[in-house]
Amino acid sequence: MGGQELEFVHEAFASNYIAPVGPMVDAFEKEFTEYSGIGHCVAVASGTAAMHLALHCLNIRKDDEVLLSTLTFIGSVSPATFLGAVPIFIDSDRTSWNIDPDLIEEELESGVKRNRRPKAIIPTDLYGQCANLQRILDIGKRFDIPVVSDSAEALGARYNGKHAGKDAAAAIFSFNGNKIITTSGGGMLAADNKALIEKARFLSQQARDPAPHYEHSEIGYNYRMSNILAAIGRGQLRILDDGIRRRREIFAYYEQALGKLPGIEFMPEAAYGTCTRWLTAVLISPDRFGADRETVRLALEAENIESRPLWKPMHLQPVFRGCRIRGGSVSEDLFERGLCLPSGSALKDEDLERIAAVIRKCCRAAS
Ligand SMILES: Cc1ncc(COP(=O)(O)O)c(C=O)c1O
Repeated sequence: MGGQELEFVHEAFASNYIAPVGPMVDAFEKEFTEYSGIGHCVAVASGTAAMHLALHCLNIRKDDEVLLSTLTFIGSVSPATFLGAVPIFIDSDRTSWNIDPDLIEEELESGVKRNRRPKAIIPTDLYGQCANLQRILDIGKRFDIPVVSDSAEALGARYNGKHAGKDAAAAIFSFNGNKIITTSGGGMLAADNKALIEKARFLSQQARDPAPHYEHSEIGYNYRMSNILAAIGRGQLRILDDGIRRRREIFAYYEQALGKLPGIEFMPEAAYGTCTRWLTAVLISPDRFGADRETVRLALEAENIESRPLWKPMHLQPVFRGCRIRGGSVSEDLFERGLCLPSGSALKDEDLERIAAVIRKCCRAAS
């Protein structure tokens, strides 16, 4: 927390809006649109809820196919399955670790031959780095398919000078406890299309038709963000840029401390954008480094330092057995060799030194 969060929470208590609507929610949404440059938004209970609403509003229904990054978190994919849609997974590219636009194109061309046209393309912005959204939008336009940007991990990141998710049909963001800013739990659905956001707002509040009593002509959800959590979000937005600065510093520290060791590589920053470095992620090649990523993870754990493998690709998840995958070897390799290092904005320089020392010790050449 930065400091101002509690002031806003006190203000919310004083106003007695202890509810899933209220002036803090309105102000948080307004400030979010100002920060991101995306025209409209609705604050909701989680990033997963935001994705569910986005896909519902884009009329994704049972048996529709959707293209998704395979290297992502389940919250990116489960909303499509809530609606009965069929996920088709697409591999990563090496330049950004994000969905490979060439493979999207290949999949869509092959879909045309099978007389199938997916209903949405859902790229994930991984670990604070935007997917190559401009290229994906161009492909989407060519095939007339909307793009929903899963920017849950990329608040504050940029591509071609624009904020993550800008110009997509819709973009979702997460304020889960582990994100660069948090409301403990929460999410945002943002889009330049006002009608889409108004529809999502309606659905997020149980789809209540305008009437003095409770009237419903369709089924909605209870997905709205609470006024108290929005108060926290307003305080957090004020320290977002500091968080990005610190996370990039943390990445630079690790790179300088470990980058020259044999067999260690850092997640590249794609030329089209600026990554927030929400998480610093590395690849460890056991033959050259002298230890595999699991050995390094366990060595850190033995010192009470938490690290985690990269996302396990969705096409390898038991729950998605049998789903279509285009490519797959890049994300499999990234999972096999990848490790996310401690990256919290509150880490001190001495913490970083301690972490780097444990990793260095695992390296055959250094030890
Ligand atoms: C890529 C991605 N998509 C979706 C989500 C879901 O967000 P939430 O946890 O707020 O539901 C997350 C993170 O939590 C995520 O990392």
